[in-house]
Amino acid sequence: MTTSAPLAGKRVLLGICGSIAAYKAADICSRLGKLGADVFVVMTSSATEFVGAPTFRALTRHPVLVDLFDEPLSDRIAHIDLAQSSDIVLVAPATANIIAKLATGIADDLLSTCLLAVPTSTPLLVAPAMNTVMLEHPATRANMTTLTERGVEIITTGYGVLACQDIGYGKLADVDEIVNAVRIRLSTHDDFKGRRLLITAGPTREPLDPVRYIGNRSSGKMGYALAEAAVHRGASVILVSGPTALEPPAFVKIVRVETAEQMLEACMHAAPTCDVVIGAAAVADYRAASVASKKLKRNSTTSLTVELLPNPDIIATIAARRAVGQFIAGFAAETDDIDVNAARKLQSKGLDLIVSNDVSRPDAGFDVDTNAVTLHWPDGRSEALPLQSKRATAEAILSCIAAAIAKHNLP
Ligand code: PMT
Repeated sequence: MTTSAPLAGKRVLLGICGSIAAYKAADICSRLGKLGADVFVVMTSSATEFVGAPTFRALTRHPVLVDLFDEPLSDRIAHIDLAQSSDIVLVAPATANIIAKLATGIADDLLSTCLLAVPTSTPLLVAPAMNTVMLEHPATRANMTTLTERGVEIITTGYGVLACQDIGYGKLADVDEIVNAVRIRLSTHDDFKGRRLLITAGPTREPLDPVRYIGNRSSGKMGYALAEAAVHRGASVILVSGPTALEPPAFVKIVRVETAEQMLEACMHAAPTCDVVIGAAAVADYRAASVASKKLKRNSTTSLTVELLPNPDIIATIAARRAVGQFIAGFAAETDDIDVNAARKLQSKGLDLIVSNDVSRPDAGFDVDTNAVTLHWPDGRSEALPLQSKRATAEAILSCIAAAIAKHNLP
């Protein structure tokens, strides 16, 4: 294997659980090996009912361990050795059972014992595969939330026909996506170490009365992915978030707001101490001129006219008062004339970078897990990134920002 392979020199511990998707672990194992990784496999005994250990022995050229008392080297304790010598740990497929054990600290077989011995500094990725009802069970959801809060990366399941013939979420994510997630986590570096980032995410809600508001379709996924990626690259992150259903990424300072004016206030408080500001929020451009104190009554015979006032432009306000050396990036949510509109916003808001996305695409922009963005720079250069997960998009955006900061020798 040449040292130019992206994962050369990296040791991956691959945990495989008892799911019909276990056969896909062979592909994952092979792909990681081709990228240069040295893969060690631990299987649960139920996983061996679906696919044999010799498959993985052949793919990895290492013994495949299943039993807690499998000790290939008499002077080493296998579960501690495996857990502590790995650069990354991936569990794929992960059943509801292993997720529950990991969340609650149960160690009753080799894989669960290994997982408990993984140092918190080692990236741990979990790719669930299970029936939709099991996936959506409050216990599984709570366990996954616990893991996310501890910094475990859950690779979202795919949608489709499951082994039980149900249709829904619960399919193991694409092998490509899983391998890419490992690659991204292993290739990330400390390029934001010591830097403070302010990131805005989600929608704002502009109230009309105590029960109604003007809002938009932003889920917060793009901004949260940026925050998570930045933390993994060593940054301290303040995430100013409008209302979303997302759990904040681990180690991120979250400031929750509702309206654009509240978002502006939180950002103006945080911005002066930050090196980089990224505006991924979908801020409502208008708010009601007056908010009714009681619920507006329905009247079927007359129309209702609401006067709207323009909201402050948060990212432009930050840019106008930027601290020396601060790098400020915005997003442009467009449906037409994307390049022209993005370039105009870049200039009028005084930004160092604008990231446009075509929000009319079903697989990009609002409330989906993927995005296809183009980066536009003040000197007229632009770079289109492929359709990929929002996490991978976030990593690519951060790499470009890191390169721009380094080029201009910003502090
Ligand atoms: O949250 P998701 O579901 O993951 O969706 C992601 C996204 C589509 C919201 C995200 O990728 C995105 O495009 N965010 C910007 C949405 C937006 O408001 O775009 P805009 O073109 O209207 O605004 C341009 C820039 O100005 C943005 O950085 C925006 O945050 C900022 N802005 C806009 C209006 C305003 N009053 N204040 C602002 O700061």
